Amino acid sequence: MKIAVLISGSGSNLQALIDTAASGSLDADIAVVLSNKAEAYGLERAADAGIATAIVDHRDFEQRKDFDRALLAALQPYAVDLVILAGFMRILTPTFIGAYRGRLLNIHPSLLPKYPGLNTHQRAIDAGDSWSGATVHFVTEELDGGPPIIHARVPVEDGDTPERLAARVLEKEHLIYPLAAQWFAEGRLTLGNSGAELDGKLLPVGGASLEDYS
Ligand code: GRF
Repeated sequence: MKIAVLISGSGSNLQALIDTAASGSLDADIAVVLSNKAEAYGLERAADAGIATAIVDHRDFEQRKDFDRALLAALQPYAVDLVILAGFMRILTPTFIGAYRGRLLNIHPSLLPKYPGLNTHQRAIDAGDSWSGATVHFVTEELDGGPPIIHARVPVEDGDTPERLAARVLEKEHLIYPLAAQWFAEGRLTLGNSGAELDGKLLPVGGASLEDYS
């Protein structure tokens, strides 16, 4: 299976995918890493791993759909089976999403369907939630609203800051993203009419729980 990973920043989730592919736990070849920012550290991680990189700067395009067409054109030569958004901070249009429907994943730092959008950990702390976490989901036209695949929970501690909580959640992100990608590689994960399916069975509203797979 060939994967493209789209990033905008640090790329620690990309690194987790690189490492699990290298160790054999992820049966996939990361064919290209694409960033909308030339300074994204994840591009160095990709280059260090000998992975092709591409930059498509959103500021070169007046309209989102033209940016998305440029992304599609940049990916096209790699003929990837799966596109993984890993800290890619642009909202994609139906032009892009439609081209990779059922083959496009994102990771979001909340227990979806709670807290789509930004500042998720601050919102969880402000709400007095006992748990925060992260969720891998299929991407659909609804922002952070596509069917969840797998989530990991992290307890909110007394006096937690969003930064501390985010750092603990990130460690779990590095477990659930490679696992979801491996399920896809094995042909076990599909986007059905009613949601995400694993082995042909509809997953729960918030996706599978990492606790059941570790
Ligand atoms: C993660 O928190 C992820 O949930 C969010 O963006 C961040 C990416 O981090 N979508 P990294 O670039 O993978 O380190």
